Amino acid sequence: MIIRKTPEELEKMRRSGLLVYQILQKLGEMAVEGVTTQELELTAEKMISDAGAKPAFKGYYVPAAGEKYKYVLCVSINDEIVHGMPSPKRILKSGDVVSIDTGVSLNGFYGDSALTVAVGEISEQAKRLMKVTEESLELAIDKVREGNRLFDVCSTVEEHVKKNGFSIVREYVGHGIGTQLHEEPQIPNYVDRKNDNPRLREGMVLAIEPMVNSGKADTKVLKDKWTAVTKDGSYSAHFEHCVAVTNNGPWVLTRP
Ligand code: MF3
Ligand code: CO
Repeated sequence: MIIRKTPEELEKMRRSGLLVYQILQKLGEMAVEGVTTQELELTAEKMISDAGAKPAFKGYYVPAAGEKYKYVLCVSINDEIVHGMPSPKRILKSGDVVSIDTGVSLNGFYGDSALTVAVGEISEQAKRLMKVTEESLELAIDKVREGNRLFDVCSTVEEHVKKNGFSIVREYVGHGIGTQLHEEPQIPNYVDRKNDNPRLREGMVLAIEPMVNSGKADTKVLKDKWTAVTKDGSYSAHFEHCVAVTNNGPWVLTRP
């Protein structure tokens, strides 16, 4: 069942969304050569506790890993797709493509968002990958309208990515969000005919999160049980927003 939120509940989700936005803006500015991913983690952790919120990812049980995630951020660099773990040993360098993903819970509701930033000078191909991935999210956001269907969102990401010659990660997908970090429906970045194709209704909130590889789509998980990487070592980019269906069109909760 897809849980629809009242206008009052959406206002609460808005506050979670804006906190996530502020954190990601700050981390995006901090992500320069020489900074460790641990420093990003500590900054995020402080901003979350100062706001009286709780991290969404730290302590979240992921069946595929068989354990709880230990950090407030996923920081996934270059060929890493998602679930990259912050570490004092990971030092950002020029040329890195860094995706930062975080979530919080505030007043009982979750917010979840991700962006990808460049450190110093990155390759032209990596620039284009970031651009196309972000564009695919923006185009999908515009489909989050009453009366459209879920597959309109999924197919919009899929078509834009394919048209530009990149590949869509299939193993990790977007999701509904509310009082839980992950609610129904699952939101693949491609049309999966095995899934339902519900109509979008006022009050639904979708966390749309394209993960796109510059090479092949295949993924693997490292021995640390978490870090998902591209099999061929190609770059991966990730952008995510939480978007509510309103009678005024899409409302992106995770940006001003
Ligand atoms: N944005 C991702 C998601 O919504 C990251 C989750 S990290 C986890 O699933 F550790 F919490 F799983
Ligand atoms: Co998410």
